[in-house]
Amino acid sequence: MKLKLHVWRQKDGNSPGQMVTYDAPDVSPDMSFLEMLDEVNEGLIAKGEEPIAFDHDCREGICGMCSLMINGEAHGPERGTTTCQLHMRKFKSGDEITIEPWRAHAFPIIKDLVTNRGAFDRIVAAGGFVSVRTGGTPDGNAIPISKEEADLSMDAAACIGCGACAAACPNASAMLFVGALVSKFKHLPQGQAERDRRVSNMVAQHDAEGFGNCRNVRECEAVCPKEISIRVIAETYRDYARAKLHGK
Ligand code: SF4
Ligand code: FES
Repeated sequence: MKLKLHVWRQKDGNSPGQMVTYDAPDVSPDMSFLEMLDEVNEGLIAKGEEPIAFDHDCREGICGMCSLMINGEAHGPERGTTTCQLHMRKFKSGDEITIEPWRAHAFPIIKDLVTNRGAFDRIVAAGGFVSVRTGGTPDGNAIPISKEEADLSMDAAACIGCGACAAACPNASAMLFVGALVSKFKHLPQGQAERDRRVSNMVAQHDAEGFGNCRNVRECEAVCPKEISIRVIAETYRDYARAKLHGK
């Protein structure tokens, strides 16, 4: 396949960026999107040019590091798929592909396509954990949890913290991410002790980081590579109201 790539290049967060066009003349349909970029970078390095910086780690759809807007869509055109699991067979020879970094004020650009997603780490640190004593593994397994509740928790726990939800939202809201954290704990007995404090602190941190409010556009749900439902946002707002009623 022959492709033309329009890639956002930016030296650092203080320098202006620009789109730069590259030819990718020999792309295999079996390559992943990141392998295609690896090949382009090999060519740039061979010419003595600066390779394109982009984020990645596991390349198996589990770490949440890969983060590209591809033709205006977070993680590209295939539903329920991370950028690293997107294959070039989803494109046609002759296609032009625009590649940009995540778009959100709270994800500032570090270089080219790499953004700083430390805001998500700070939201997790504000409440996305269980710190009370929950016993050992046998104790956890001894507490009966209905299949329905366990499924709701596990569905939310699929979030990999990639940030696509915020990058795709016209209001740059990260409420799908916050909601996934809230929902994964609220459906388990171990999550009850800190339930009010968790949602209050995480929503406050979400706002402090500069993410916008949810307006039910549902773009987050459409681009989420783990297909997290906006049900978790409704649960978060319900839990937030409950926390305020409890004075937390
Ligand atoms: S909710 Fe989905 S899109 Fe948002 S961070 Fe989690 S996995 Fe990524
Ligand atoms: S590189 Fe880990 S999810 Fe894509």
